[in-house]
Amino acid sequence: MKELIAWYQRHGRHDLPWRKTKDPYHIYLSEIMLQQTTVATVLRRYGSFLERFKSLASIAQASEEELLKAWEGLGYYRRARNLYMVAQMTGGVLPTTAEELMRLPGVGKTTAHAIASFAYGAQLPILDVNVKRIVGRVYGNYNEKGLWEGAWQLLGDSPAPLFNQAMMDLGSLICQPTPQCTHCPLKSQCGRYPDPPKQQKRRPVERVAIIVASDRQGRLWLQRRETELLGGLWGFAQVPIDATRVVIDGEEMAIDERMHKGSLRHLYTHFELQADVYLLFLEREKEGWLMPSEIERLPLSTLDRKVLRLL
Ligand code: ADE
Repeated sequence: MKELIAWYQRHGRHDLPWRKTKDPYHIYLSEIMLQQTTVATVLRRYGSFLERFKSLASIAQASEEELLKAWEGLGYYRRARNLYMVAQMTGGVLPTTAEELMRLPGVGKTTAHAIASFAYGAQLPILDVNVKRIVGRVYGNYNEKGLWEGAWQLLGDSPAPLFNQAMMDLGSLICQPTPQCTHCPLKSQCGRYPDPPKQQKRRPVERVAIIVASDRQGRLWLQRRETELLGGLWGFAQVPIDATRVVIDGEEMAIDERMHKGSLRHLYTHFELQADVYLLFLEREKEGWLMPSEIERLPLSTLDRKVLRLL
């Protein structure tokens, strides 16, 4: 695959910070962040995260809440909870083979191959969504097994660390959803097969009311969430959109339209949340409720940050 490697040397994104290191923790962290977050966003957050957590061992010494705080805004918080678990499980020292890496929570086959090739030079291909698109177009076989076989075939005896980075860049710069085949280093061997028909997934809409309760001092009530999506993060109460009453901190209160402060929309992978935000005032002082300056220091989801900004 000489043409591909030559193309990468010339046009690749060599200045990505995680490509200038062999530190397994740095590479592992970048791969976890990049699983569901764009390169542009990761570039903004990666450096400061590493400033705060200089080693995997330093994560093990922190609380899960501190880690979630550092992850705030990156979304898919399960990644941060898995990162915390990995720090605890490994004592801060990552294993050195793809097989062992795959046993870590949050590390699938392609992530394990990426880490093993970039950090340890293992001769293994990757198969993320970008690479799947390339391999599918080259060979016309779109099932998981066929795609892995195609990835192995394309890799051949090219050095995997270079090859894998080249494939990622080819996917994001040339072999995009609308490909630019004239500039492609694979054009002489590519079958240019059409993409498989993609099922349009419409996100279902979920409507909720978000209740912000304030005591007379302006302290707000938040709870620590335990849900799959936002577990470990703090947030305001959410109730069904047609609820007329809400229980806040053990007290039942009426929701009324005069308390309506505005609406928000927030996109998750599998659904769209539409929220009406209500502000409830209590004439009393409440124990354990939090001043905005205290809320600043807690890990909150982007949605709950939007609620705070709205108010
Ligand atoms: N996406 C996943 N891993 C990546 C990497 N190492 N460089 C650029 N994009 C990526």
